[in-house]
Amino acid sequence: MQLPLLDTADPRENARKRIEELRRLLEHHNRLYYVLDAPVITDAEYDELFRELQHLEKQFPDLITPDSPTQRVGGAPLAKFSAMVHRLPMLSLENAITEADITDFDLRIKRMLGIPPGHPIGYFCEPKMDGVAVELVYTDGLLTAASTRGDGFTGEEVTENVRTIRSLPLRLTGDNIPRLLEVRGEVFLSLEAFQRINREKEENGEPPFANPRNAAAGSLRQLDPRITARRPLSIFCYGPGVIEGTGFDSQQAFFSAISGWGLPVNPLVRGETGIEGAVDFYREILAQRESLPYEIDGAVLKVDSFELQRELGVKSRSPRWALACKFPPRQAVTLLEDIQLSVGRTGVITPVAQLRPVEVSGVTVSRATLHNWDEIALKDIRIGDHVLVERAGDVIPAVVKVLTEKRTGQERQLDPPESCPECGSAIVRIAEEVAVRCLGLSCPPQIRESILHFASRNAMDIEGLGEKFVEQLLALGLVQSVADLYTLTVQDFMRFERMGTKLATKLVDAIERSKHQELGRFIYALGIRHVGERTAKTLAQSFGSLEHLEEATLEELTSIRDIGLTVAQSIRTFFDNRNNLDIIRRMLQAGVTPAMERKRVGGRFTGKSFVFTGALTRFTRDEARQMVENQGGHAVGSVSKKTDYVVAGADAGSKLTKARELNVTVLSEDEFLALLETQGETEG
Ligand code: IVH
Repeated sequence: MQLPLLDTADPRENARKRIEELRRLLEHHNRLYYVLDAPVITDAEYDELFRELQHLEKQFPDLITPDSPTQRVGGAPLAKFSAMVHRLPMLSLENAITEADITDFDLRIKRMLGIPPGHPIGYFCEPKMDGVAVELVYTDGLLTAASTRGDGFTGEEVTENVRTIRSLPLRLTGDNIPRLLEVRGEVFLSLEAFQRINREKEENGEPPFANPRNAAAGSLRQLDPRITARRPLSIFCYGPGVIEGTGFDSQQAFFSAISGWGLPVNPLVRGETGIEGAVDFYREILAQRESLPYEIDGAVLKVDSFELQRELGVKSRSPRWALACKFPPRQAVTLLEDIQLSVGRTGVITPVAQLRPVEVSGVTVSRATLHNWDEIALKDIRIGDHVLVERAGDVIPAVVKVLTEKRTGQERQLDPPESCPECGSAIVRIAEEVAVRCLGLSCPPQIRESILHFASRNAMDIEGLGEKFVEQLLALGLVQSVADLYTLTVQDFMRFERMGTKLATKLVDAIERSKHQELGRFIYALGIRHVGERTAKTLAQSFGSLEHLEEATLEELTSIRDIGLTVAQSIRTFFDNRNNLDIIRRMLQAGVTPAMERKRVGGRFTGKSFVFTGALTRFTRDEARQMVENQGGHAVGSVSKKTDYVVAGADAGSKLTKARELNVTVLSEDEFLALLETQGETEG
């Protein structure tokens, strides 16, 4: 039997093969996760494959190609976007407001085509995504460019940002891939992602996005692609641009081809024969609107046959063969009866409008967020005003504008508070923020919100510990901070009204289980400003333990990818606060031991800390850190007795002296590389 030839002697060739395999695997799992919503491996397993690929590409940088999944993370910031001309203009759509407009459209088309009124036309029906239109260019199956619609003729080149969209293939797969495929689609944010981004913005005292569309546009038009990479943008493709090397005869055929090549398309699209079916489609998706995980603002009907489309042609800005059937706006006018002040976890005081209850597309609305005082001043919102409210992707609707013509003169302006409405503490307005914050350390709503955040699903995931129970814990004086949660007993919970042993035991068990949550979740749960889930995970992976993170210097923090000065300073401020350290100490004493995230298989530097000093010639400091992290270790900036190895290049100074004093193992660059290799060999 002939064995396949495997060139074990050529490390580069082996790496090339493994790189190809890893890329294929990662894109496959990406598609399962982001497009089909059916992942078959865990996030940790995905991360392992990803890190292995990063590691190999670092060793062999010439093997990096633009379609590698590692290239999705966003390159260097741009000074400005460059202009990109669309080879075919990106048209807009004629709008229909009523159902009668839809049937008129059908009759008009038949008249133009000379088709008798009773003869049905084939329509392709699609949801109208409320996002940002883009054009993608695939050359020989490779994503080579992407641009925004702009004025329809010229848009902005946003290739790097579009690459960060996980559901979008960087390389098409399947048969008969055309030489050139221009495809148009809509970039959008899920409601969940939109709400998360706005929550973070409000906590950071930044003005929130008004709706998911603005959030998607703002994320796509980021000059720094690393910011875009942190926003989970999605895309559905819906139309052809210039295509060379293959052809289609209908919109339906175009959809099945692009979806076969791996491009994401909306699964709700369908073909209908006759306008009655198209109207049914419109009604059905209008009924589904509230339950979809993203915003749509109508249905788009397109004459399915490309031949008929050509015959009908285009007007100056829109094709004659398509119609946007708009949904009624989710707006209503009501009276703003009062403005209440709500204090959040980070002390941000948010004004909330209390409205005379009004129905907005099937939902009764009685509150609206006013975001911040700048917004109130800008829109000149007063108590007693009639306001237009809109539900736009948010759980709580927003005030669009005041109907000043309805003013009677009785309306009352509300100034920003001088002290915290809940605890009376002093408040500040930080220069670069739009928010006002309460400075009280024991402000009850802040404590309540911080405990709720700590226990929430993506943080410590303490099942059952919701608002109702946290309120009672605070009212009974059983908790003052998150640390007190770990002292609670079944008897404590039994003091609640109508609480049985069974539920009380369940709560205590849930708290107990949370003691061994992953480190990343624990860091996120602490509620450090500017540290969201993703940053917390990065910190956990980079520092490996809470202890190391607590001691991290600004320099060490900012040397980590994705962590800028603001975030680093906020982390330092948090750990420089005695009160915070005390709360952490008490949790650790109570048995909270955040678990390390799973590392790459065979990461033999797990838990080991390295310091690199002096002039390095074999690799850069960044590469060194990456190599250490790939093996589960971490690189820190200063030598202490906890340091395991100091790697010293030429002219190493005080750090080398200190290492010798503390008896820390000192390695040359070559010795470090040798250690890395021997560690690698013992892997399998
Ligand atoms: S077709 C010539 N299909 O709506 C055809 N557009 O008002 C032009 N849109 O700029 C577009 N979902 O941003 C088409 N399924 C869909 C759409 C869609 C959303 C947006 C797109 C376009 C705007 C036109």
